[in-house]
Amino acid sequence: MAAIQRVVLVVAMEQEADPFIRTHGLERMKPSPFMPGMPMVCYTGHLRGDKHKSGGKRLQIFLVWTGRDERYKVNNVATTAASVATYASLAAFQPVDLVLSAGTAGGFAAVGATVGDVYLSTKCVFHNRRIPAGTDYEEYGFGHFRSPSLLLLATACGLKQGVVSTSDSLDFSPIDLELMRGEGAAVKEMEAAAVAWVCQQVHVPFVAVKSITDIIDGPETVDDEFYANLQTASEALQEKLSRILDLLSQAPLAHWAGGSVAGGSTPAVTGRGVETTVDKAGADVENKATRATARVDVKTSSNLATRFTAALPLIAAVSIGALLGAALAKRSK
Ligand code: ADE
Repeated sequence: MAAIQRVVLVVAMEQEADPFIRTHGLERMKPSPFMPGMPMVCYTGHLRGDKHKSGGKRLQIFLVWTGRDERYKVNNVATTAASVATYASLAAFQPVDLVLSAGTAGGFAAVGATVGDVYLSTKCVFHNRRIPAGTDYEEYGFGHFRSPSLLLLATACGLKQGVVSTSDSLDFSPIDLELMRGEGAAVKEMEAAAVAWVCQQVHVPFVAVKSITDIIDGPETVDDEFYANLQTASEALQEKLSRILDLLSQAPLAHWAGGSVAGGSTPAVTGRGVETTVDKAGADVENKATRATARVDVKTSSNLATRFTAALPLIAAVSIGALLGAALAKRSK
């Protein structure tokens, strides 16, 4: 199996893409390879600093920004534009050896994320596709798109690894939070699982690379923290993406496997595609077990909270009694 030679990067925000485009001198593809009227923009070129300049082939990059919404003049973030961009890119740039969903994201402090970390996905899930209409629809809703095992790559690049959880919302509901925790998510963002779904259909390896701008379970509001850290997180993303692609241009994906990490089983890479090492039935059992454990945690803490709340009148009565007793004792002295 050969090293990666052609890679598609799907990016939702211009601010996230800019540092990488500048560093590698990528040029806007003209005419656009996409259908007239579609907002995606493709930048292409070769990886700078590529070790294979002489002799071997150089790694070709197709960075696809999902573009700007014509009416609201904002970046086309979230899953609809991401999946259309992925499909159109795979159709336009064959053969494609690897697709990356690259961008910024929120991180969970409870599983070790801090602002400035860059994560490589072990698995991508949806946390807002709740379809409790029998087992198959429920697990289909989550998606469970496993990434190739890339522990050695993560170590070589100084990346963390974890489960990436996707929805169309910047904020989250209490049930979203429960489901993200149930899946053991380290990262919350708005595109990866949608890109992964397209890649899974056509058996093209997929990984998410996400740079943390804000902490989901921290004290600050998401949008304040997000805008404050967007620029530095995008620079960090650029640095890590450059290193990742440099290494991937030197040895096949399978070379970078080296075992699995927290976030579930990681698949073997076979040929150009990715296959899970566990069959669907096995995976479903494993997925349910992870969620059940997390639900017990959530329930345990809420049971404690419920018991504490129920005990409040008694605590109040005892405290008032004690205060009254003390006051009477003082008076009678
Ligand atoms: N992108 C950056 N931060 C995010 C968050 N907290 N949720 C979803 N997408 C994000």
